[in-house]
Amino acid sequence: MLRDKYCAEVKEEEVGKEIKLCGWVFRRRDHGGLIFVDLRDRSGIMQIVFSPEISKETHEKAHELRTEYVISIIGTLRRRPEGTENPEIPTGNLELYAKELEILSQSKPLPFQIDETEEISELLRLKHRYLDLRRPQMQQNFLVRHRATMAIRNFLNDNGFLEIETPMLTKSTPEGARDFLVPSRLNPGTFYALPQSPQLFKQILMMSGFDRYFQIVRCFRDEDLRADRQPEFTQIDMEMSFIEIQDIIDVIEEMLFNCFKKVLDIELSIPFKKLTYDEAINKYGSDKPDLRFGLEIEDVTALVKRSQFKIFLETIEKGGVVKAITGKGFASFSRGEIDKLVQKAQSFGAKGLAWIKIKNGFESPILKFFSEELIKEIAQKIKAEEGDMILFIADELKKANEILGKLRLDIANTSKIERKGFQFAWIIDFPLFEWDDEEKRFVSMHHPFTSPKEEDLDTLLNISPEAFKNPLSPLKEIKAKAYDIVLNGYELGGGSIRIHRADVQEKIFKVLGLVEEETKKRFGFFIEALKYGAPPHGGIALGLDRLVMLMTGADSLRDVIAFPKTQKAYCPLSEAPSEIDTKQLKELHIKLDV
Ligand code: AMO
Ligand code: AMP
Repeated sequence: MLRDKYCAEVKEEEVGKEIKLCGWVFRRRDHGGLIFVDLRDRSGIMQIVFSPEISKETHEKAHELRTEYVISIIGTLRRRPEGTENPEIPTGNLELYAKELEILSQSKPLPFQIDETEEISELLRLKHRYLDLRRPQMQQNFLVRHRATMAIRNFLNDNGFLEIETPMLTKSTPEGARDFLVPSRLNPGTFYALPQSPQLFKQILMMSGFDRYFQIVRCFRDEDLRADRQPEFTQIDMEMSFIEIQDIIDVIEEMLFNCFKKVLDIELSIPFKKLTYDEAINKYGSDKPDLRFGLEIEDVTALVKRSQFKIFLETIEKGGVVKAITGKGFASFSRGEIDKLVQKAQSFGAKGLAWIKIKNGFESPILKFFSEELIKEIAQKIKAEEGDMILFIADELKKANEILGKLRLDIANTSKIERKGFQFAWIIDFPLFEWDDEEKRFVSMHHPFTSPKEEDLDTLLNISPEAFKNPLSPLKEIKAKAYDIVLNGYELGGGSIRIHRADVQEKIFKVLGLVEEETKKRFGFFIEALKYGAPPHGGIALGLDRLVMLMTGADSLRDVIAFPKTQKAYCPLSEAPSEIDTKQLKELHIKLDV
């Protein structure tokens, strides 16, 4: 070994001893007689002191040191003089007086400083990712990621799950995104798809009798990227046989409890809250509500019917609703600020935003249409108090919820409402289908292998083909045995009990408008497998990157993925994707058209 131990492993008991350390020059301060270097390795920092009284030659050599040089030091451990301790770091009482210094490698001047917290362009950070990853915060993120992964793996192992790998070169799986394709050299004109998830394979593993499967697995989706989406990401993927929804919920709650305890020493409160899809949408305007704060959306249709405000009455007349939310502390808003708020609501799709300030009485352009009594009742319903503002949206139910859901998050930001801790919840009772207005057909809300609820099975099996094209048909009422787990406003995972009957599966494909031939071509192998004794089964997949992002408090998935892609799915470090040469294209029988 080139060293005795890590920097932060050095302890007070060793004062007076000679120790050998290696690492990077984090900071260097030249105080005339003495030169101080903060030596950094993955564990932390040790202050090195170069004094001409210890070794003239070493002190002389220390003048050559620059940031990020890699060095090895032999020195004597001392306690720092009183008044110079640094309580911020574990080794803050200690320093190593250097006897010998070896420069193991030099560094070019840096494109950005490792220890600076100032905003550095993401492109530059990713181009020199090796430097970016040296930051203590990034090292910490990946330590958390490692520990979380290990805790989860160990937990699943202890609970009888087998880790089994599934192919990366495979066929399209219908998770709703575009596939990344890989041309096959040996089969000209054909392509593999990279898996969007191991969905079909994990179900086939249940049919193969493995009973409990898991995999910490890379998935690939060619979709538009956001801060919480990457083209390749990692799932904690699992599947179980002979179980019901509650069994999966129990396993996941225990797994997360165990993970948060081991990694962050936080005891989550289980069981997590359960909300039906309808409740989530109606109260929070989202199927991934942030439950760290209240600000619930209320339906005030019945109340405002008693007003004389035409816009509200006409909307209700047409079958719409009026819903309201509290603008916490917004009564102090100026006219200009209110205009901005209305514009924001409009950018979320609102036709307008009606408001009433509660400030020594009430203030509003529409005050004359409401009795004081009525406003008081509305205020009570949405828990608005002196200093707040009542905000109304009149629209179709779905739109009103959607707009208020976005407004709710925006109000929380504006009002700086405290959002601390980890608020998990299960969203259950999803609709099985949703109507796609563009394609004029029903699509699966989760994926086509999700089982309908028992009580809806007959409706599904007996429904006639005319219903497939009718957005108002009973198909829209069918509920799925699907569940999502949400955390602090993010969808952390989703899963379902699967269909294990070939006839039900085939009917679903018909509803989705997949003609038999197409079904056969895409999923024939899977439907065939269902016909040889498939156990009832179900599972779930959690986004590992999202989990770690939330556990570390990072702003973006890019801070918890070692080598992520940019918004344009580009890797600035390796410069992928890149052009390939004609010879390679020819081997693949591919002609470009760009
Ligand atoms: P789903 O598509 O909901 O379900 O994905 C499960 C979880 O994976 C994470 N995730 C992503 N994370 C980062 N970037 C992305 N582009 C991305 N897409 C998804 C999310 C999401 O909740 N096969 C089903 C699971 C099942 O039914 O068992 C599936 O993949 O955290
Ligand atoms: P107007 O009569 O168009 O000036 O609108 C009166 C007030 O009602 C304005 O504050 C509008 O922003 C608001 N408003 C208009 N349409 C709606 C709507 N659909 N929901 C809520 N408020 C609205």
